[in-house]
Amino acid sequence: MKNIIAFAGSNSKNSINKELAIYASSLVENVQVDILDLNDFELPLYGIDYEIAHGIPDNAHKFLDAIKASDGIILSLAEHNGAYSTVFKNLFDWMSRIDGKLWSEKPMLLMAASPGGRGGATVLDIAKGRFAYMGGNIIEDFSFPSFNDNFTERKISNEVLNSDLKNKVASFQKEL
Ligand SMILES: Cc1cc2nc3c(=O)[nH]c(=O)nc-3n(C[C@H](O)[C@H](O)[C@H](O)COP(=O)(O)O)c2cc1C
Repeated sequence: MKNIIAFAGSNSKNSINKELAIYASSLVENVQVDILDLNDFELPLYGIDYEIAHGIPDNAHKFLDAIKASDGIILSLAEHNGAYSTVFKNLFDWMSRIDGKLWSEKPMLLMAASPGGRGGATVLDIAKGRFAYMGGNIIEDFSFPSFNDNFTERKISNEVLNSDLKNKVASFQKEL
């Protein structure tokens, strides 16, 4: 059986992006899903001086190993001030020191959710532009706006958005 990892670019215990990633992963058929949480991969703030003194922390290796062992990735990014959240950028920077092509060409469903009307479109654009140089293989991307209006009881309540996501999950599934 294929296996995928799903995670949020957030360290919030109540992460809306984690909820969306879990929901999207539930739509993928016949796969083993591992939900990862960045809180389980604590890392020091990246700095070249730290790296020279102590090397690359185990948790960066562990997360990268999970990517490499997977057949596909579902990632939903939190948007902080029009960019990646600090916790995600930190993990991304550490992993990039091990392997510049860290996404390892794994098929990816890339999403962003926000309580606001733009659905994290800015961070989604940043990631789409950057991941392409770093082994990214983005099959579909999905911006999810107004989370609190459109998501209830662990699923998307807005029919149009739900059907859009289902179509995108189906094309992601074909690439696994
Ligand atoms: C420091 C900070 C900056 C934020 N900047 C943005 C932003 O630029 N765009 C946006 O749509 N939401 C922004 N938000 C709101 C987040 O989208 C919201 O907190 C969301 O729940 C984050 O996702 P998460 O729950 O998965 O962590 C910001 C929140 C914080 C705490």
